[in-house]
Amino acid sequence: MYLYDLEHAAELLKKGHLVAFPTETVYGLGAAIFNSDAIASIFTAKGRPSDNPLIAHVSSLEQVEEIAEEIPERFYLLAKAFFPGPLTVVLKRKSHVPAIVSAGLPTIAVRMPSHPIARALIELVGQPLVAPSANLSGKPSATQAEHVLEDFEGKIAAVIDGGKTDFGIESTVISLLDDVPVLLRPGAITREQIEEVLQCSLSTEAGERVMSPGMKYRHYAPRTPIKTFSTLSALEDYLTSHPSKKMILSAGPFEHPDHFLLTAKDFYALLRLADQKNYSEILVLCDDELQKQTALMNRLSKALM
Ligand code: TXA
Ligand code: MG
Repeated sequence: MYLYDLEHAAELLKKGHLVAFPTETVYGLGAAIFNSDAIASIFTAKGRPSDNPLIAHVSSLEQVEEIAEEIPERFYLLAKAFFPGPLTVVLKRKSHVPAIVSAGLPTIAVRMPSHPIARALIELVGQPLVAPSANLSGKPSATQAEHVLEDFEGKIAAVIDGGKTDFGIESTVISLLDDVPVLLRPGAITREQIEEVLQCSLSTEAGERVMSPGMKYRHYAPRTPIKTFSTLSALEDYLTSHPSKKMILSAGPFEHPDHFLLTAKDFYALLRLADQKNYSEILVLCDDELQKQTALMNRLSKALM
């Protein structure tokens, strides 16, 4: 069900129910961090592999200190520059935080969302909210409340309807566990922005698959098959020789009734639309303009895996 009353939502969360809420990136499927049973039900509802850890959403730095320990100075530099906002930082977990939150890892990913509904909800519950993206595992993330219910109607207590999310792609994830910070997932906050604040280079994504379990799975994928093209002429040739109904996505204009402008904000909604409208394929023009959008290209490549 849709919910607009935050106090009601907070009560449901305190009782151990799951409530989805908007953030500035995508919708999250929330549970209170100290309720292990509620967190277990997130994994069940999503069909999420049990080795994929969750992000703790906080509304203050005190809450970070309540759940993480041996916090390095670099964390505070990042927090000063990017909190609240679409950056998630992996730290050491305090042992009183249920291990199920981080799928048994001795670490904890923390993020302070900037969305006013998310912030207010965390404050009303009075503890961090654990929240993966509010989609069935493997499916495109939800960027509007209707998408959350498409996946979870009848399986969760409620979704707080905050309209379309602003950025549309999940947060940047960075690990501060080692001497060299590691970029685990690209997002709205770029590698360059982080390197400027930390005054050091981030390690390459080679470690990504090992360290961030979530990144090894196929993700964000619609039922409709996706094909990519590096040149406009290759795309046009394909269209001529394959006349069935295709969805065409590109970062620039293209004269065709089934063409949509591809942006980070609309990416997941377009993948869901392709399924609803029964397009036979999604054709994406991966030209230089699109290639520049690192986070979007990362999600596209995961959907193609
Ligand atoms: O923007 C976002 O980050 C959204 C909104 C709801 O906040 N959340 C989100 O959560 O994308 P999820 O569960 O879909 O993705 C979390 C990612 C996964 O790739 C997971 O492996 C990684 O963060 N992660 C979480 N905890 C981690 C940890 N302790 N160590 C390494 N990676 C971690
Ligand atoms: Mg996700």
